[in-house]
Amino acid sequence: MSQPAIEPYRIKAVEPIVLHPPEMRVSLMEQAGYNTFKLKAQDIFVDLLTDSGTSAMSMNQWAGIMMGDESYAGCRNFFNLQDTVMDVFGFENFVPTHQGRAAENILFSMIIKPGHIVPNNMHFDTTGANIRSNGGTPVNLVIDESYEVSSTHPFKGNMDPNKLTALLDGEGKGKVPIIMHTITNNSGGGQPVSMANIKEIANIARGKGIPFFFDACRFAENAYFIRTREEGYAQSSIAEIVKEMFSYVDGWTMSAKKDGLVNIGGLLAVKDDELMGNIRDTLILIEGYVTYGGLAGRDLEAMSRGLREVLDLDYVSFRVNQVKYLGDRLTEAGIQIITPVGGHAVYINAKDFLPHIPQSEFPAQALVCDLYLEGGIRAVEVGSLMFATTNPETGEVVYPELEMIRLAIPRRVYTSTHLDYVADTLIRIKSKSHQLGGYKIVKANGLLRHFTAEMAPL
Ligand code: F0G
Repeated sequence: MSQPAIEPYRIKAVEPIVLHPPEMRVSLMEQAGYNTFKLKAQDIFVDLLTDSGTSAMSMNQWAGIMMGDESYAGCRNFFNLQDTVMDVFGFENFVPTHQGRAAENILFSMIIKPGHIVPNNMHFDTTGANIRSNGGTPVNLVIDESYEVSSTHPFKGNMDPNKLTALLDGEGKGKVPIIMHTITNNSGGGQPVSMANIKEIANIARGKGIPFFFDACRFAENAYFIRTREEGYAQSSIAEIVKEMFSYVDGWTMSAKKDGLVNIGGLLAVKDDELMGNIRDTLILIEGYVTYGGLAGRDLEAMSRGLREVLDLDYVSFRVNQVKYLGDRLTEAGIQIITPVGGHAVYINAKDFLPHIPQSEFPAQALVCDLYLEGGIRAVEVGSLMFATTNPETGEVVYPELEMIRLAIPRRVYTSTHLDYVADTLIRIKSKSHQLGGYKIVKANGLLRHFTAEMAPL
């Protein structure tokens, strides 16, 4: 039997949550068009929609909020953040943004031209969409093991160097303006990237004169996996590992809403001075002046403190092991999840959970809906609703390899008892899974249709 990890903190402020009666959940779900993004948060008991912007801040961060300097230019919190970015990542040039996708948008609008191809281990949905909206094509070059649900590979987020070289020498010759690596690989199950792989991809990029960037939002969780799984790092601190990881890249985008332990904020850092100059100009145009970039001074302070706190080994060890505890409980009950368990979330294989529902009828979305109906729990679909594409020439729908639901665990928010409740609810659903049916789309549009689509049970 798995043992829950013990929280290395105690609770100082509480936020009540309510479990509505089952019949009320049925009607709320219907009103939401069977899309959990459209539910009101107050109607959810345990919210595992995302680990993004949902962290509980520490008393140190809340104290920092009171230190906010709301001057338009040159606020003290920017300089604190500058020290943090230098100390933690070794980067001098950076701008704050209001969140990760703003950093992506600014960067890509500067370097991507129509016809360009951007490789990544696996693009997150906003990264891919930001590339497409600038006329580029995102491609995923993660190792094949990443697509094996039950693999035991310790670094399933690694990029396949052979696939990358083949792209750079073939179809992508002269068309790749940047190589990205997402740490950890969210779309592939929160899987880490090894230091060896980071070095290898950096070498390939350098050999071709192509800038190499991280999509870095879960950098501390990635570093923890390097410490515990990669030879030579067991005695290193998380801070040392992070510093080394970032020494191999030319820049990075970051949603600080994850390992920045804040509710809002992002960063964009690059080594190239000329590129940074252009970034600053665009930032002023669309986010704000260079010392606040779409955030209040107090937000910068909370981010600056969060980026240091997240390096604490007790914190990050608890964090990763809390997620693993939920994964282990599900595995023990015969529910197939992506293994090894990722850093921020447990991903359930909906193809295995609901084998009788074809991908055209959105099995992962069916499970997401039932999780709310059964237990007031919110998860997110990472499958056909999010990723299926239509071939414009043939009209044929191409379904993603993985059909998952993600249970993303907010940082420092829920206790092991909440996670036991989630596990028990899923085990109950599993025992009657043959009763669940598929769904159809009633209304959908746009590059990111899963946010707004309306569904109906078949
Ligand atoms: N990159 C990755 C790997 C992400 O997981 C996210 C956000 C972003 C970029 C964009 O950052 O939200 O601050 O604009 N992921 C959230 C999630 C939304 O639920 O996984 P953002």
